[in-house]
Amino acid sequence: MKITSLELMNYRNYKTARLSFHPDLNLFLGENAQGKTNLLESLYVLALTRSHRTHKEKELICFGEERAKICGTVEKQTTKLPMEITLTTKARQTKVNHIEQKRLADYIGKLNVILFSPEDSAIIKGSPSVRRRFLDMEISQISSIYLYNLMQYQTTLKQRNSYLKQMIEQKKVGKASNELYYEVLSEQLASFGAKIIHSRLTFVEKLEKWANQLQNNISSQYEQLKLNYSSSFPLPKELTVEKIEQAFMQQLKDKRKYELSMGTCSYGPHRDDLQFFVNDINVAIFGSQGQQRTTALSLKLAEIDLIYEKTGEYPLLLLDDVMSELDNKRQIQLLQTISGKTQTFITTTTLKHLSQIPIEGKVFTIVDGKIEIS
Ligand SMILES: Nc1ncnc2c1ncn2[C@@H]1O[C@H](COP(=O)(O)OP(=O)(O)OP(=O)(O)O)[C@@H](O)[C@H]1O
Ligand SMILES: [Mg+2]
Repeated sequence: MKITSLELMNYRNYKTARLSFHPDLNLFLGENAQGKTNLLESLYVLALTRSHRTHKEKELICFGEERAKICGTVEKQTTKLPMEITLTTKARQTKVNHIEQKRLADYIGKLNVILFSPEDSAIIKGSPSVRRRFLDMEISQISSIYLYNLMQYQTTLKQRNSYLKQMIEQKKVGKASNELYYEVLSEQLASFGAKIIHSRLTFVEKLEKWANQLQNNISSQYEQLKLNYSSSFPLPKELTVEKIEQAFMQQLKDKRKYELSMGTCSYGPHRDDLQFFVNDINVAIFGSQGQQRTTALSLKLAEIDLIYEKTGEYPLLLLDDVMSELDNKRQIQLLQTISGKTQTFITTTTLKHLSQIPIEGKVFTIVDGKIEIS
């Protein structure tokens, strides 16, 4: 899919702006604090109704104004779709084809975007919870059952943890605890947990294939990327849901004493992690900044294939400040890798490194919320 035009009214530092885009590559060029990220963000908001930078609508509205509006025309293989979102401090209104969409689910999904920003390096360098969230978000996009299992798991985990704490209190006063209840909660936890782990393992295998291809291309065939799902308990040889469930249950039995001393569950998908190896070296520990950036980028760009597989359309690609840590060769390889598939939007403070770009595109120069076409 492509977006052919965009109109902004009172969005961040844009009073009014009207742009028509190149079908392949659009570069937003400007010095710091001129509005490059704001412009990318407006495309993200048009697609998802929320910003990646803030949950507060008020921040998206130009200082001193009451409402902001973003309009865009989206072209798919067979349709042309005008989309519109109006933001006020109290509410947001969405329209498709000039008709108001009351339900968020009817609006979101019409325009697919993938955003990569410097903060995404946290996938590599951040805490395990960032990687778990990344996995959960990615898989939930393609599987509603996964999301259901995840929610059930979290509810059961909460119940079980609070019962573990109760059991500790009961023991202190010499009261017997309800073994059956504890057993049922453990079984439920293992059952939902095993399904989650199984889905994650299947997904990680796919992700590795896609992301490795990208890493390989961007690094001029120099780097191989491998992913390792690291489980918080020993996984069985045979990775079926049943066998994982049995192994999980066994772990809960074996570690009962430890769990009762901690009052919390230390095993299961909520404690698992993902590791990345570039040419067999753990990139979070030993990787250079450029390697880490390339890996984060490859993982995020793999979403292009994920969304294509799901919808039959390529999403828009929004790359915020992506070039800064990549050398010239990697920048060109990156652009070549994505060219032809997605319509891409890139912010940059300089065209110096991009002078050798082999791809055609449009350059928008941004100065203080005003856009000129170079
Ligand atoms: N609600 C708002 N109303 C008016 N101006 C705003 C609003 N929110 C942010 N700004 C202004 O937008 C500017 C920042 O824009 P943006 O984040 O897009 O910069 P940038 O061009 O991406 O810069 P950098 O290269 O540093 O990333 C700031 O000067 C900020 O004051
Ligand atoms: Mg920026």
